[in-house]
Amino acid sequence: MRKFICLFVICFLPIATTLRAWEGNVLVSTPNTSIILSATEGQQLRFSYFGERVEEDQIHQVFDAWTGFHRPAYPVFGTSTYEISALHAVHADGNQTLDLIVDQVEQNPVKDAVLTTITMKDRIYPFTVKMYYKAYQHIDMIETWVEVSHKEKKAVVLKRFDSGHFLIRRGDVWISSLHGHWGAENMLEEEKLTNGQKVISNKDGMVNTETDNPSFMLSIDGKPQEEYGHILGGTLAWTGNYLLKMDITNTKLNIIAGINEENSHYKLESKETFKTPEFAMTYSTSGKGGVSRAFHRWARMYKLSHGNVERDILLNSWEGVYFKVNQEGMDQMMKSFSALGGELFVMDDGWFGNKYSRDRGDSSLGDWTVNKKKLPLGIEGLIASAKKHKIKFGLWIEPEMSNTKSELFEKHPEWILQCKNRPLSTGRGGTQIVLDLTNPEVQDFVFSVIDNLMTHYPEIAYMKWDANSCMLDYGSPYLPKEKQSHLYIEYHRGLNNVLERIRAKYPQLILQACAGGGGRINYGILPYFDEFWTSDDTDALQRVYLQWGVSCFYPAIAMAAHVSADKNHQTGRYLPLKFRFDVAMSGRLGMEMQPEDMTEADKEFTQRAIQAYKGIRPIVQFGDLYRLISPYENKGVASLMYVAPEKDRAVFYAYKMNHFINMTIPNVKMNGLDPQKKYQLIDLTPLSKNKPCSLHNKIISGKILMEKGIALQTLLKNEYYSLRASRSKIINKKLMKMATKNFSWSSAFSILLCTQNIKKESVSF
Ligand code: GLA
Repeated sequence: MRKFICLFVICFLPIATTLRAWEGNVLVSTPNTSIILSATEGQQLRFSYFGERVEEDQIHQVFDAWTGFHRPAYPVFGTSTYEISALHAVHADGNQTLDLIVDQVEQNPVKDAVLTTITMKDRIYPFTVKMYYKAYQHIDMIETWVEVSHKEKKAVVLKRFDSGHFLIRRGDVWISSLHGHWGAENMLEEEKLTNGQKVISNKDGMVNTETDNPSFMLSIDGKPQEEYGHILGGTLAWTGNYLLKMDITNTKLNIIAGINEENSHYKLESKETFKTPEFAMTYSTSGKGGVSRAFHRWARMYKLSHGNVERDILLNSWEGVYFKVNQEGMDQMMKSFSALGGELFVMDDGWFGNKYSRDRGDSSLGDWTVNKKKLPLGIEGLIASAKKHKIKFGLWIEPEMSNTKSELFEKHPEWILQCKNRPLSTGRGGTQIVLDLTNPEVQDFVFSVIDNLMTHYPEIAYMKWDANSCMLDYGSPYLPKEKQSHLYIEYHRGLNNVLERIRAKYPQLILQACAGGGGRINYGILPYFDEFWTSDDTDALQRVYLQWGVSCFYPAIAMAAHVSADKNHQTGRYLPLKFRFDVAMSGRLGMEMQPEDMTEADKEFTQRAIQAYKGIRPIVQFGDLYRLISPYENKGVASLMYVAPEKDRAVFYAYKMNHFINMTIPNVKMNGLDPQKKYQLIDLTPLSKNKPCSLHNKIISGKILMEKGIALQTLLKNEYYSLRASRSKIINKKLMKMATKNFSWSSAFSILLCTQNIKKESVSF
């Protein structure tokens, strides 16, 4: 009987619905998601709902069904809530509290988005907070940030200053986030959240994504799945210290994110405005994959420099020659790389410094003039070589840094971050020190490093901008003593100023963000950069894990992935060249080795692989990512694919991660294809040109590829045997002996397929 009544009510409810707009509520919507805020003048701003899109006439249904909340949207310390606060201000009279009420609400269209601005004022003090929600209209992404200002007679001290706050109902919530270490950055971790707090943070001042990354996903209905389930994704667009906090109680989960306030109390002067970085959130009903694809599209369209321009295939000199730089050697590298089909050569560390030659990592940073002994023809000589070999030219710099052994430090010791009355702390090589970018003179200097190089050598197409130190000494010779606690914030404001100037003057320059590897992979720095160096660890097996983690939030077009030498320099592992290429070809392909060390057979393979990448480049760099089998599930294989927006082409990757006799390997079901279309499978990188795998040229419908999948079991096994046979011919005996003993070498295998839509329906399979 009860059931019957319920059914009865639900059936008739739509007829009784009134279309009246819900007064006092503000709807912030993207194509598929909405936030509802309750913003009544004179009352506190309340956060009521975040989830699937609702229309204005459905707002009351959300409240009636009680899927919403009615909690402070931007909780302030002292009056609004005891649970959590996003803003804590201490007034000059010692009052530690705020009490904010809504003063004004505006909604305006801006490029591809709707900007909602809610102005809140303190009931008593002349203190204003403007809260922004930018809802993108082509992507499910909402950015939020605040601007804090006041007209009090004396400065107000900000003790917390978060960018935003979201609330969700507590369920079986799991978090996916990235953690790591140098050489193992951005490894994916997933855990169930229980009552209490989960914190993602960084405090090193500079290299902010080496250990944690300011990004996360929250699955609200159980263990996160790749292509189904409700998942929220968030990221803080800041390249300095951050703190992202999940505060979990029995009934709800507060998400709060902003600049890490630790050691950063901010003295806000009257009429000064403090703007927080943007905190961006997306909401997907199609699992982690949906979240990643939203981030990738958002990055390419709005957050990445040149997000719609194909990236060149480059050779970076670092692991090939390290500091052993000379004109002949570089010319030879460029020549070899060009013959392989490469497009850009990057001269890494070791090219500069005269009084102190940069021969190790312990001198010369700041002395950005070419070393005349190593490179007597100067940068001109390198550019001439690049021209001769018909490739572009790029240069490594580390402009925020210096060494105690450098002319720059001798001239400007006051430009270095340092603690008053204490000896300098030093980093890499026992001599590396950090410039004080809070100082406008230092900002001018850093700008001039790039400006001078670009003015003299406008042919420079690319720069790798490195930062190999955290902030060692907490102290700025430039900031006044009462504002020393602004250091972590002012440093990054200074850096942003410089980057703004560079981008304004050199909009075409391609910039890579590097910080001792993957230490600067964040949406705070990316708007100025085209890509990031994913990790100093170039071991392809470990890269499968690293790149998988990074792919959760950052797009393949920006993920620099380089093929490096056999016997990897970081892990000592031997992996087949094919495996190394197949892994690097799932990102922005590059190489980081001495091409002359390759055998003729390896060169022939490399040529074919580079050629193949040129063909799939638009799919990898602009397509939609579908992760198929996670390496973190330890199934012995990992698999992923990219699908072109028109679904007429796709690239599929499968990597065999370890090998046991008769091991069970799952079939892999593809995703993102059109079930109605037929696809021709092409083996893109067969080890031997004329021996593609058994799937080559098969024509299979999207439906079968997605519902039944393909059996990797036989495919990987066969290739594995043929791979070993051909390897034995091309490597020397000593290496072969070592290699066959090495488990990973003999077990790693990969397949890279390109599918393309067969338009003629008559083709059978
Ligand atoms: C850092 C980078 C490397 C390389 C070296 C050069 O470690 O991550 O790729 O550029 O510096 O010193």
